[in-house]
Amino acid sequence: MEKLLIQGGKALHGTVPISGAKNSALKLMCASLLSPEPLTLNNLPRLADITTLIDLLNHMGVTVTIAGSKGGTKVTGRSLTFDAGTISDTVAPYDIVRKMRASILVLGPLVARAGEAIVSLPGGCAIGNRPIDLHLKALAALGADIDIEQGYVRASAPQGLTGGKIRFPFVSVGATENALMAATLAKGTTVIENAAREPEIADLAACLTAMGAKIEGAGHETITVEGVDQLHGATHTVMPDRVEAGSYGVAALMTRGNLLLEGARAEDMQATLDALTEAGGIVEIEEDGVRVKSNGHIKGFNLVTQPFPGFATDMQAQFMALACVAEGASVITEAIFENRFMHVPELCRLGADITVTGSSATIRGVSALKGAPVMATDLRASMGLALAGLVATGETSVNRLYHLDRGYERLEEKLRQVGAVVDRVPA
Ligand code: EPZ
Repeated sequence: MEKLLIQGGKALHGTVPISGAKNSALKLMCASLLSPEPLTLNNLPRLADITTLIDLLNHMGVTVTIAGSKGGTKVTGRSLTFDAGTISDTVAPYDIVRKMRASILVLGPLVARAGEAIVSLPGGCAIGNRPIDLHLKALAALGADIDIEQGYVRASAPQGLTGGKIRFPFVSVGATENALMAATLAKGTTVIENAAREPEIADLAACLTAMGAKIEGAGHETITVEGVDQLHGATHTVMPDRVEAGSYGVAALMTRGNLLLEGARAEDMQATLDALTEAGGIVEIEEDGVRVKSNGHIKGFNLVTQPFPGFATDMQAQFMALACVAEGASVITEAIFENRFMHVPELCRLGADITVTGSSATIRGVSALKGAPVMATDLRASMGLALAGLVATGETSVNRLYHLDRGYERLEEKLRQVGAVVDRVPA
């Protein structure tokens, strides 16, 4: 195990190259299951979650190679080709799914292409129960028979799926993605209502369209899919990671620095940029990215997490860290996940003043945080703690670094390049 050692107090200045989006890349990789022809993905981030999904796809018979190479076993490149010519196994085993919930995204593509899928139930996780009922209802609406046996979902449609109407009672990113992928090969028309509008949905739809799918309305509330008999090979470039970009934007403001988030797209992260501005940051859209800088002050602010285009739950912990050092009080309400405040006691160990009442946290800014060892509980919570460490006096160690490695590519390297004093050391 490793931990991150941070000596706080350095203002960050320079350029941070933003990686491909984890939460898009994972779904795009699952989409490769829909076609017997290879899918090449460019701009894949090098992250633990990507490796976990490669393991799962390998298990199903998908060969993964560095794009342009003739094969080999080293599959950590930025451009990879996923060849699902033959699906040899339609089981997603517990041992892999438990490591990463996004594994559930193989369900739709598998049942659509192979007529069956047996996928381990992911179970709850640190940030909440996270059921998958909407994923299952969506596939049932397309004609799949669904059973749950011994902790596994068994979905089957031996004669293929049939288009249908899916109306989600509330917005789910993953359920929208599973439904969208499954519908591409269903017979007839599928209409998905109250669909998630996150930019990752539009990225997935663009890739599926390049593979021959017929999709209208991705990125809007209603998506219409005209099923086709077969999808073909394609090449697609993963969109930039709006959560990584937003996290470094918070780092710029919090450390009273100035960072160019290279490659970030403002339209994907407007709510984050608005929140940074409300907190006193200066945001400038430049040709090659988004610049965030400080005017020397951080103001208190109020936020409620919401589905896109609202403020993203994946940015909540990072803004909580920012609020800890703001002038005045802030209120942050978590409205997506029921248990996503686990960073609060850890931030308090650094000297933060936070009171939680139900799903809202009131944060009264303090003049300084003080370094201490802290324990990460999930990916974004870990980033919140790392950000707090960047401004705390003395040394902060963030334990359980593996959480950060799931979603932030070369974190300590990127931070060091803009002036942070950060090291990865054995725990
Ligand atoms: C995606 O998770 C992201 N993960 C999450 O990012 C992100 O926090 C979340 O969307 C919300 O934006 C990936 O893209 C891999 P949901 P997902 O289905 O799809 C409930 C990170 O840190 N729900 O939109 O699982 C659910 O419990 C991760 O990168 C049901 O009740 O999220 C939650 O309360 C963490 N039944 C709400 O809906 C269902 O069948 C929204 O979840 C599905 C979801």
